[in-house]
Formats: sequence, C-alpha cells, structure tokens
Amino acid sequence: MQIESIGIKIRFRDAEALRKTLLSHGVIDTSLDFMRDENHLIIPLTLSKDEIIQLLLSSSTIERFELQVYSFTQKDFQPKNLYEAASKYIPENLHEFIPKAYDVIGEIAVVDIAEEVMKYKKKIGEALYSLFPSLKTIYRKSSAVSGQLRTRGLELIAGEKKCETIHLEHGLSIFVDACETYFSPRLGYEHKRVADLVKEGEVIIDLFTGVGPFPLHIAQNHNATIYAIDINQKAIKCLEKSLLLNKLKGSIKTLHGDCRELMSSLPNADRIIMNLPSYSQEYIDVVCQILKPGGIIHFYQFVATEDGKDRVVSILKQELTKFDWEIKEIIDFHKVRESAPREIHACLEVIITPQST
Ligand SMILES: C[S@@+](CC[C@H](N)C(=O)[O-])C[C@H]1O[C@@H](n2cnc3c(N)ncnc32)[C@H](O)[C@@H]1O
Repeated sequence: MQIESIGIKIRFRDAEALRKTLLSHGVIDTSLDFMRDENHLIIPLTLSKDEIIQLLLSSSTIERFELQVYSFTQKDFQPKNLYEAASKYIPENLHEFIPKAYDVIGEIAVVDIAEEVMKYKKKIGEALYSLFPSLKTIYRKSSAVSGQLRTRGLELIAGEKKCETIHLEHGLSIFVDACETYFSPRLGYEHKRVADLVKEGEVIIDLFTGVGPFPLHIAQNHNATIYAIDINQKAIKCLEKSLLLNKLKGSIKTLHGDCRELMSSLPNADRIIMNLPSYSQEYIDVVCQILKPGGIIHFYQFVATEDGKDRVVSILKQELTKFDWEIKEIIDFHKVRESAPREIHACLEVIITPQST
C-alpha cells in the first residue's frame, strides 16, 4: 500500500550521518520503506516540515537536503509476539486472554487457550504458526497431564497432524512423540544442571526417564553408565531413536517396564533420578534396594511455595524411615519452575544411607 508522507531527500554520501541523527531523535517513520533514486536516499519522517527544519538546524551539520511529500510503500506488518500476531483476530475486550506462553517442542508448538478466547482457537493457532516459519504443527492443551504415563490431551488447531519431532536441547537432539510421551521443554535447564553434577564413572539410574533427557544430557559429556527406565514403551522407543542421533561419551541402557518390577535386574547405583513429582515418594522402597549406601538421590516433588524445603525433607524422611534408611546430608534444594499458582516443582538432592544401628 502507498502512503503519502513527508520525507527527507539526501545525497548518499551524507545519508548515513543523517539517518543516525534522525534515529536518535526517533523521527523516522519505521512503518514505511525508504526510497532511492540514482544519487539519493529518501527517508520517511513522522514530523512536519517546520518541525524537521527546526530539529536539523539545532542538531545537525547537514545543510543540503530536500523536504517534501513523497509516496512511500507501507512495510508488511511483522508481529513480534503471539499477542501482536493474534490480536487482530480477537475483540479488544478479550485481548488480556491471548496466551502469553507456549511450548515449542521441535517443529510442534503446544499452547494453553483460556475458555474466554476458545472461540478463536484456530486463529490463535494460525497466528502462532505464522510467527515461527519452522513450526509444522500447533496443538492446544485439551486436558491436564494425567495418568501413570503423564501425558495430556492435545487438539490440533493449525498445521499438519504430526506427533513425532526432534527437539534440540543444549546441543542434543531429543526424539519426542509429543502426543504419547511426556516431554517438557521447560525442564531443559534442569536436565543440564543435573547432568553437570555427575562425576566420571558413576552408575546412574533414572527411574522415570520419559524420552530420556536426563540420561542423554549425562552421557553427552560424561563417561558414565545410565540405566533409563520407563513404563511407557513409546517413550523408550523415542530414547532409542535419540541414541542414534547423538554422539555420546557415556553409555545408556534402556529398560521398558515398571521400575519396581525391574529392580532385581539393576546394579547398585551411585545416583538415582526420581522425576515423578507427586508420586516419587511411593518408590523409596525401590531406591533403598538399589542405591549404594551413601549414594545420591534427586527427589522431585510439587510443593506449596511457602512450605518448600521443609515439606520435601519431611516427606522423604518419613518414607526412608519405613525402610530403615535416613538422610545423611542435604546437598541442595532447588526450585525447578513454578508449576501452578503458589506451587513449585522442586528438587531435593540428598545423600542417604541405611540407619546406623
Ligand atoms: C514426569 S515424566 C518425567 C520424564 C523425564 N524424566 C523428563 O524429565 O522429561 C514421568 C515418567 O515416569 C513414567 N513412569 C510412571 N510410573 C512409572 C513406573 N512405575 N516405572 C517406570 N516409569 C514410570 C511415565 O511414563 C513418565 O514418562
């Protein structure tokens, strides 16, 4: 579209100095394209002719320029975020309900849409789709994470129906089935943080591995042996595909099944990862069977923000006592992320041992 606007015409050799001066005063009309002729640049302005003359007389040594109305081409609108991309489809009184966050898993995005704007879900999907040219699929969350496999309902709102993708996380390629396995890109930092704590030669058991992000991160940089267990066969299949995608220093052994049923086939571990918040306390009997005395566990829980560390320590102590084990040392208590209003997903890292008699 062509727009009539005041513009300043300047010889190319003076153009850069003038552009910088105008930019520093915020008077360039950035919604319009610059124009050129053989020797000149023409810059669209937001001020009137008199205002621009005043400004240039007071702040510039540039004397030879022409000011007049030109017909400029309007730039295509490039939204910077989902709010900007979706707001044109949604009535203004509902703009506050446009989603602010979404998860990108490889070529798939997953967005939570509030009831108030559910009518516009396809438009929100298309807006997100247009924002990231690399996305192929947009789902909305149609239910909360639930059940033993910790998966959620997804409804396609834009793009092609596709579940499998490769997610890049700190230099690793992680094969994910976004429909039938648990995976959260929000845990990327946590996967790396735990991996960085591992020492060479450790034997590690990840009891609830999902598609295996913890083992992959550990094996990326450490010569360690990691047993990766999950009850969801699809998740283990994804991990096996990731093993083919990455060059790893450590060794990952994949095991499909219930970790309690598999414990007799496991070696004693230096470290156990238990990222099954809400239920990890139900598997302390497994830990007491397979952890070396004085080994480390990463015990994950959802906990009210104000209770924090004391609550998680108390849950763990109570469970350990049942099996005559105890906490020897608390190494760290760490907030992984906000999981709900006034609730955090937390990790307690502790050394535990059988109780001394
Ligand atoms: C919250 S996900 C954690 C995934 C992974 N650790 C991560 O950080 O992305 C929990 C996983 O535990 C698995 N799971 C639940 N109960 C299990 C059990 N008894 N034995 C083995 N895996 C189990 C689920 O299938 C799910 O993949």
